[in-house]
This record gives sequence, C-alpha cells and structure tokens, in this order.
Amino acid sequence: MTVRTEEELRAAIRREMPGVRADLERLVRIPGIAFTGFDHSIVERSAEAVAELLRGAGLSDVRLVRKGGQPAVLGRRAAPPGAPTVLLYAHHDVQPVGDRSRWLSDPFEPVERDGRLYGRGVADDKAGVMAHVAALRAFGDELPVGVVVFIEGEEEFGSESLEELLREYRDELAADVIVIADSGNWDIGQPALTTGLRGIVNGFVEVRVLENAVHSGMFGGAVPDALISLSRLIASLHDDDGDVAVEGLVRTGSAPLEYPVERFRAEAGMLDGVGFIGRGRLVERLWTRPSISILGIDAPATAGAPNALIPVAKAKFSVRIAPGDSAQRVYEAMVEHLHRHAPWGAKVTVELEQLGEPCVIDATGPAFDAAREAFAAAWDGVQPVDMGVGGSIPFIATFQELFPKAAVLVTGVEDPGTGAHGPNESLHLGEFERVCVAEALLLSNVSRLTP
Ligand code: BES
Ligand code: MN
Repeated sequence: MTVRTEEELRAAIRREMPGVRADLERLVRIPGIAFTGFDHSIVERSAEAVAELLRGAGLSDVRLVRKGGQPAVLGRRAAPPGAPTVLLYAHHDVQPVGDRSRWLSDPFEPVERDGRLYGRGVADDKAGVMAHVAALRAFGDELPVGVVVFIEGEEEFGSESLEELLREYRDELAADVIVIADSGNWDIGQPALTTGLRGIVNGFVEVRVLENAVHSGMFGGAVPDALISLSRLIASLHDDDGDVAVEGLVRTGSAPLEYPVERFRAEAGMLDGVGFIGRGRLVERLWTRPSISILGIDAPATAGAPNALIPVAKAKFSVRIAPGDSAQRVYEAMVEHLHRHAPWGAKVTVELEQLGEPCVIDATGPAFDAAREAFAAAWDGVQPVDMGVGGSIPFIATFQELFPKAAVLVTGVEDPGTGAHGPNESLHLGEFERVCVAEALLLSNVSRLTP
C-alpha cells in the first residue's frame, strides 16, 4: 500500500471537492424527514442515494438496515493487516423546514451566496455524510485503515431504533475509533473537538381544574382556570433570575472556553434589551448546567376564544441536562416538582416523551492526539480547542457503553453561522473543505496506531 503524504491528501481533497459539492447538492434535493406525518418514501430515496455514494467510495456490502424506523445505511471495508478500524457516523435525515416564509431561497434547492451554501440539511448533517465520502475518495484504493460507515436515517426524530440497530450490528460496527461528524467547530478558522454534550428530557404536563368550560363571568374570581394554573406551574420552574429551580439536577463547573457575549447575542438573534437568564459564565449555562424550555402549549386559540374558564391546558417541556446527570433521574425530579407545585389543588399529570443521556468524553490518548494533529494541519497550524455543546446526541452514551475501549471523536461541519434547525441553514464552503482535509488526515494518522 502506498502511504499518502499530507500534501497528497490535501491535493486529493482539493481535486475531489467539486464532485463532493455536487453530490452534497444532490442529497439536499432529497429531503428525507423522519418525523411522523412526513413522506417517508423520501427518506428511503435519501438512504438509497447515500448507499450509492458509499458503494462509489469503495465500500463493500453496502446495505440499508432498519429496526422498524427509518433506514440507516451501513457499509464497510476491511482493515489492512495490523491496521485499526474506524467507525464513521453521520445522519442523512433532516429537520422539517419550519416557517417557509423565513427562507430566502428554496430549502431543497441549494444555492451559494457569499461563500456559503444554503439549504435544509446542507450542514446538519449531509455535509457530515459527504465529509466521510470525501475522505474515502481521497484515498481511492489505498485506504490505510478499516472503516465501517453508519449513516442514520432518523437522528432528528430521536434515533428511536438506533440502540437496537447498534446492538444487532454490534460485531460489524466494532471499531477502535469512532468519528461522529454531527457537531461543529468553535469558529471560522478555529477547529474544535466536542468533548461534552447535554442530555435531553422531553415531556408533557397537563393541568385539569374543571369538568367542562364554564361561564367566565359567573365563575371567574372564585374558580381557577387551567391556563392560569398551568402558567403558575410553568413559572415555578425558574427562580427570579431565570435559573432552573427544580431541585436535584446536576450542575457542574468548568467549561474550557469563554463565549464572547456580543457574538453569542448575535448568534442567538436576541432582541435589543432582552437580558440573559440563569447565573454563571455563559458556557456553563449552556454546556454544563440544566436548562428548561416550554416548547408548546395546547389551549384554546385566541381567535374565537369564548368567555369561558378553560378546564384543561397542556404544555410540552424540554429539559437539557448537564453531562454527568441521568435522564431518568431528571424526569423523576420533574414529575416530583410539577406535582408539588400544582397551584390551588389543580390535577397535574406528567407524561414522558423522550429521554436522551448527556455525555462527557475524556479526550486524551493516542486517537485524540492523532485527531488534534490532523485538525491543526488542516487549519494551517491552528490548534483545535475542546468545546462543549448545549445540544444533544444521546446515542454517544450508547456508543460509549457498547464500545468502551473505542475513542469517540465528535467532529462536524457546523460553524457559528450555520443556523441548524432554523431557516436559511448554511454551510461555509471554505471550512467544509478543511473538515474534509482534517478527516482524511485523521484516517491517515490513526492508521499508525495499533488496534
Ligand atoms: N447536530 C445536532 C446536535 C448538536 C447540536 C451538535 C448543537 C452541535 C451543536 C443534532 O442533530 C440534534 O439536533 N440533536 C437533537 C437531539 C434530539 C432529537 C434527541 C437536539 O439536540 O435537539
Ligand atoms: Mn445533526
């Protein structure tokens, strides 16, 4: 096997980029959305398109696998004798587009503006898929490591069948290093390894106070209504500073970086005059402490609302939990808090939607050294930083449990301007090429490690 030098790999990626970009655009035009109510035949087409790309990149035994949910794509290439195996993960499903009127161009027709490519999934996570493909193409027939590529089809819908898939294909997926390309870098020009993610606990709380709606004049003033009751209950979740008031949640300290406040306000799109909630450094509020949000409410719509006391109201809550906490325990703490704070004897019921574990990655050892070296080279000498992420990739905890000896590298293509899940999601094309170079160099560096 001819060993490719850093310069050769850079040149190979440069050569491959136009094709990689064209294939990325092709994937963006197949918007597979795994959510209930969407046309899942598109997810099938998306999986087939990914499978074709993996076959073209020299993988064998490429196939669609599923456990009741949406199809994942699995392919592999055996390791050369004595070389380690790397598992490459990304997901091919995307988020729904949300409010169409907020998009400046068709979400499923990628267009370039000012060095960025726009479209749903162009970054999250189809560029993750293509970074893996690009790295494989750069080596051609001379891949110095074994690879297993696993491209999931329902990440954005909560990866319901992923755990079962991982358990069923455990032997086939076994690897020395796992690369999860579904996060991002700290800034344009500043690479990062993601070393901690929060978990997630989503659920519903319903408040009942009356058998039926009754006249708000005849009964208002003596009888509570369900929406005021629910509002009080929701208000009890935070203290006056906006810090989480639910007891018993893990709050850990140190996060390595400092978020520049103005950059953060701009990234979030906070309106002038709107203040922060919580206490402590921004990175701690976002990465190492819990947060609670209300994602929706079921109650009568304002248009046509009668003069009547509302008998029942329901809210969907979402708790992001700190690395080190346990999703089941946090759910129990929420149930306990919501029952204890029921105002005026209102009947409170809580229902679980989804649990996702947080994770902490001990980013030390030879695979992490190999990765850092690759990143620094791809970004012309800029050393990567370790960063946390406030979002969640719950199955990382499952990977850690199933493959305790594997090094888990969480990488990705997102940058502060990406706007994943929002309108006008975009990919910085310059950074994307660096991500592809970094992954090729990473595979090359990892090939020197003993399995
Ligand atoms: N790519 C994100 C996770 C992420 C978020 C990485 C922010 C880096 C920064 C992933 O696709 C995602 O959105 N995950 C969901 C998880 C949920 C469906 C269990 C999330 O965080 O809401
Ligand atoms: Mn993602």
